[in-house]
Amino acid sequence: MDAEDYRADSRERWERAAAGWTARREQLAADPLPVSERLVERLDPQPGQRLLEVAAGLGDTGLLAAERVRPGGTVVITDGAEAMVEAAREHAAGTPGVQHKAMEAEWLDAETASFDGILSRWGYMLVADPEAALREARRVLRPGGRIAFAVWDEIVRNPWIGVLQEQLVAVGLAEPPRLGVPGMFGLASPELVRDLLEDAGFSDVVVEPVEFAFHADDADAWWEHSLTVSISLGEALGRLSPAEHYALRDAVDAGYAAYADADGRLTLPACSLVASADA
Ligand SMILES: C[S@@+](CC[C@H](N)C(=O)[O-])C[C@H]1O[C@@H](n2cnc3c(N)ncnc32)[C@H](O)[C@@H]1O
Repeated sequence: MDAEDYRADSRERWERAAAGWTARREQLAADPLPVSERLVERLDPQPGQRLLEVAAGLGDTGLLAAERVRPGGTVVITDGAEAMVEAAREHAAGTPGVQHKAMEAEWLDAETASFDGILSRWGYMLVADPEAALREARRVLRPGGRIAFAVWDEIVRNPWIGVLQEQLVAVGLAEPPRLGVPGMFGLASPELVRDLLEDAGFSDVVVEPVEFAFHADDADAWWEHSLTVSISLGEALGRLSPAEHYALRDAVDAGYAAYADADGRLTLPACSLVASADA
């Protein structure tokens, strides 16, 4: 897909995804908390600092960081989708030291050297040109400022989505993930992430895996969750006949059964790469 078409298509999907993400906010905040905590730890924010969260979604990582810049500091929580920004603003409900703004990762609407730190969880692998986005990040960081961001590690380390993705690929409803191509697993390589950061001018790069797990009461609950947060999944399923839909669902449930306990409760392994570096 042409980069401009990709940007427009991606933006439109994320605008539509905001309602589902809002409905599932608690689960989206609770299970991946170890990733947000590691990001904040790596950024090591100090009271009075000014931070930017990029591709923030509902902004839970930014809110966590806000606790560390008080008193006197600010976290500007941003996202490319206006509906996400509105949802994040509502969720923050006047938390002190937090501002909200619609902002594209590739064209940060911010002055040069105006932030002490940048945070982003699961955003940079989705942008059309991650190197341009990281150059922008470096531009708005003061010299010596820091960036910490998370992307997904390779799909085999992420059965929470890998099981479903494998079946979608098998029936031709999804492409296998490809490194360097924008998408969930586009930056699923520590070497690639390191190269991108160094090419954008960052130094002292550290890239480390952070494992956690998503939980669901059973396979039905996880299916419902997946449909609620993913616009693409609903669209893909809409292209199947009822019989194909049932067959796919059976195959997916069989895959998730490997992660079920005796009561059917799922513990689904997940792994992110957390990268941090100095501007
Ligand atoms: C997978 S969600 C992650 C949301 C949140 N950071 C979290 O960890 O829960 C990706 C977010 O990136 C945003 N996004 C995607 N492409 C973007 C871009 N080019 N510029 C800014 N935000 C973007 C989407 O609107 C969406 O909110």
